[in-house]
Order: sequence, then C-alpha cells, then structure tokens
Amino acid sequence: MLEQFIREVDAGLSAVQKHLPSKYFYDARGDALFSKIMAMPEYYLTRAELEIFTEQAEAIITALDFHAGDYFDLIELGAGDGLKTKKLLQVLMHHQYQFDFIPIDISANVLDILAQSVMTDLPEVVVKPRQGDYMAILASLKNDHHPKAVLFLGSNMGNMSDTQASKFLQELGENLNPGDSVLLGVDLIKSADIVLPAYNDAQHITRDFNLNLLRRINRELEGDFDLAGFAHAPEYTEEEGIARSFLVSQHAQTVTIGKIGKQYHFSKGERIFTEVSRKYSREILEEILAPTDLRIVAEFNDSQHYFADFVLRREMRD
Ligand SMILES: C[S@@+](CC[C@H](N)C(=O)[O-])C[C@H]1O[C@@H](n2cnc3c(N)ncnc32)[C@H](O)[C@@H]1O
Repeated sequence: MLEQFIREVDAGLSAVQKHLPSKYFYDARGDALFSKIMAMPEYYLTRAELEIFTEQAEAIITALDFHAGDYFDLIELGAGDGLKTKKLLQVLMHHQYQFDFIPIDISANVLDILAQSVMTDLPEVVVKPRQGDYMAILASLKNDHHPKAVLFLGSNMGNMSDTQASKFLQELGENLNPGDSVLLGVDLIKSADIVLPAYNDAQHITRDFNLNLLRRINRELEGDFDLAGFAHAPEYTEEEGIARSFLVSQHAQTVTIGKIGKQYHFSKGERIFTEVSRKYSREILEEILAPTDLRIVAEFNDSQHYFADFVLRREMRD
C-alpha cells in the first residue's frame, strides 16, 4: 500500500500537468471531513440520494429482482458510512430477504464505523466487511455461487473519466453472472450555481478535504508541503458537466518528500489536479455502458431531479 502511494504520488507530481489520485483523500481525517461534507447544506448529492432510498426503497428492491428464498450477496463498493444503504437494508429485513451484506472500502477506519453501526441499528443483518481495493475484492467474489447485487452509490463513478468508467463497468460486468444487478447512483448534469458550491462551501470543509491530500503526504511520506502555500480551486461548467478540483501554488516553491527522496518544484499559479466529479445524463451513461454487458432496467430520481439511481442488469452474452 505504501509503495503504491509512493509510486503514484511521484508519478503525479513528476507529470507536466501535476495530479494526485483522489482515492488518497480517505485517511481517518479525510473520512471525518467527508462525513462533514455529506452534512453540508451545499452538498445536495447525499440528501437527494437519501430521498430516493427513503421514498423508493420498495420499488428499487423490486427492480433488483431478488427471488424470495434465494440467499444473495449485497456487495457495496466504496461503502463509506452506509447512511443510504441502511435504508435499503431496513426494507430488505422487513421483507425477510436472506443475504450477506458485504461492504468493501479501502478505508479500514470507515469500514469499522459502518460495521459497528449496522450491528447496532440492524443486528439481524449479516455483515461481512472487506477492506481493500474494490475491484480486487470483487474479482475474489466471482466464484461464490450466490446471486449478486452490487451497490455503487454517491456518484463515486464520477471520480473516473468516461473511458475509465466504461472499463470499470466492463470489468464489473465480467465479475457478475447473467441476471445479477448493479445499483448505480450518479449525479445529474445541472447548473453551476447548484453544483459548484458542493465543491466550494462557505465553511471551507471542501478546501480542508482537498488539502488533506498534501497533509497525508506530509505525514505518511515525510513531505514538507506548506498547506498555506496552496489554494483550493474547483471548476465546473454545465456545458461540459464535469467538476474538477485543483490545488494552486500561491508562489514559486520547492517541496521535498523524504520517503521518495525527491524534490518537486511548483511555479506561482501552477495547479495540481486532485479530483474529477463527472455529472451524467441517461444518454451519457448509455454511451459508457455500450461496450459492457450491463443494461439499464430502471431509473429512480429524487423530487428535484438532481440525482439518479439506475438499476443495471448483467445480460447474457450472444
Ligand atoms: C465519496 S465516498 C462515498 C461513500 C458512499 N458510497 C456514499 O455514497 O456515501 C467514497 C468511498 O469510496 C472509498 N474508495 C475510494 N476508492 C476506492 C477503491 N479504489 N477501493 C475501495 N474503496 C474506495 C473511500 O474510502 C470512500 O469511503
């Protein structure tokens, strides 16, 4: 894990256009900051998806097409705190469905918190948390004979480029059997006055979250980033439908990262690209899904049409 972190930070900061992978936001401090982000008035995504899960859990479960009496795996990729998933778990338990809940997350800290809260709030649910990269763990579950439903919520997929998302969904499909389902939560394209504040809030929680990448490099890789020397700078246009976050060097500076044994120079105004948050339409999603074995079978929206949860089904190959 540390070696991969070192390799990816070195590659990103050595590139002509500097970048860092967003998955490294999530250490214990990053998890806590992300929980705060989800509770911010500007972060409409969580509220919109929670509304869908609260109001439409029964219809979602019908669309997922579980057969009564079949024991199935409910797998969640990048589960986080499971706030929305617990709504689904409640309804599944109410109807006495039989399943294992398998949340997967790269953050051991967030998985512990989630497992504890499910055990406290819904003690009858069988929880089998798995820590690590979701694709690696999903591949290891392929040969398990239970039917599967995979949850990928919170517009997590928006952190990928469309090409990466297509490849990701292709791999996801290959790790499922025909008839298995995916519940994919995506943020919809809308105007900048709604989207941008979610990445640039009044309390500066998103700024601290973005800077947490540099703080983590300082702590884990013996870096000497001066956090005050970088400004948080998100961008979004409705035409493109893609929000991007950057950290902008406020003056010319050189940073040393001890564990890499290298120095990196930043000119005044130079940007580090830290996160993409793609917004979708059904048409864009259909294009992304075209080369995969997954097809849309249902769509659920919140009352403001900010967010969509799509049920996808793994098809038979010809
Ligand atoms: C933006 S949060 C969303 C959490 C949750 N899905 C939701 O909708 O509220 C992303 C979560 O995915 C996890 N994550 C990011 N990249 C991952 C990866 N490659 N493998 C496993 N977990 C990952 C993070 O640790 C974090 O908990």
